[in-house]
Amino acid sequence: MSANSRPPIPRDAGIASIGLNFPPLAMPVEELARLRGQDPAKYTVGLGCQEMALCTPEYGVVELAVEAARRALERWGGDPADVGMIAVGTETAMDMSRPLSAWVAERLDLRGAVRSYEVKHACYGGTLALRQAVEWKLSGASQGRAALVLAADVALYAEGDPGEPTQGAGAVAMVVDEPSIARVDPVSYPWSEPAFDFWRPVGEAYPRVDGAFSLDCYKRAAENCFKALVNGGSAEEVLERAAAVCFHVPFPKMVKKAVVQVGRSFGWDEERIDRFFADKVEPSMQWNRRCGNAYTASLWISVAEALRGLPRDERVLAFSYGSGFGAELLLLEAGPEAAAGAWASDVETDLAARHRVDAARYGSLRS
Ligand code: COA
Repeated sequence: MSANSRPPIPRDAGIASIGLNFPPLAMPVEELARLRGQDPAKYTVGLGCQEMALCTPEYGVVELAVEAARRALERWGGDPADVGMIAVGTETAMDMSRPLSAWVAERLDLRGAVRSYEVKHACYGGTLALRQAVEWKLSGASQGRAALVLAADVALYAEGDPGEPTQGAGAVAMVVDEPSIARVDPVSYPWSEPAFDFWRPVGEAYPRVDGAFSLDCYKRAAENCFKALVNGGSAEEVLERAAAVCFHVPFPKMVKKAVVQVGRSFGWDEERIDRFFADKVEPSMQWNRRCGNAYTASLWISVAEALRGLPRDERVLAFSYGSGFGAELLLLEAGPEAAAGAWASDVETDLAARHRVDAARYGSLRS
């Protein structure tokens, strides 16, 4: 292809289609509290959790990712041969070498001139995959082709671990192309510091977590990212312009604590902070409460909920955090197809179809 026959470099790029998938089982956290001899209010009020989505031996991270991708591609309506990149963020790796994207490509028969890979940075990996896809489009390297971006995870902790009530699973797929659902601003606000706040050594089944330290890291990252966004201006003005402010949701109370720290850093009083949380943050965590922590997918489940039904040009802020740690604050603007919110039917379908697990079934699933 000669340089002058190349497709024009797009001025804007973003989300052209969304697909979500939740696994077939769920357990209310009150049931886990009974099993562990805890006061259920610790999980529901203290952590803000509601239900943990659970996988089966037959339906795990591959099936979640494939079904979310299938739904996103179908809704996009483009030719799968026009997908030139498959980037998957996950911390539920199937293999130390073979990327999860290869399982997805295999099941959906995507092959050929495709850059296919997995991104790892704890819960931040899906955001990195999305950023890379947007930058690939805006650089002109995509040659007019689309990217399939995935964030998919199964979050499990050791039985009896304090993190157990925050467990969950889910997948979000996004086709990155024309920003018909949301334009992703090319400018974003990253913050990283090397830390051991949450990690999973090679060969170990479950993560190790320094819960209090990870909360400190998350709050500090949020404060720095929002400070960079506001950039010495009026926090009120910058943040009020957003219709929704989405966060990575390890558990809802963690988000509230970060909002308190961000608000205080801007000199807001408690009433102002509570109002901001209730108006801008809390409404787009309802899907998260139904699935628990889905690591890389967690933020994008919240963003998908925030975008559903949003009028064109309305703004969404998205704060991504991955332990280790890396964070980034993104700005999205709703496109013409956000208002229809077609992807909400994925959540309705999956929630209606899933089965409730009791303590006995949970025990057998874990053994
Ligand atoms: N009723 C209401 N609230 C209660 C309660 C009860 N009976 N018992 C405890 N609580 C509250 C506590 O006061 C606390 O709230 P606060 O933090 O606002 O004070 C909250 O419940 C949690 O209690 P705590 O004793 O701190 O829980 P824990 O030591 O069992 O920790 C986690 C649990 C989930 C916080 C944590 O250790 C963890 O592992 N988290 C994972 C962190 C993570 O996912 N990091 C990933 C990177 S983002």
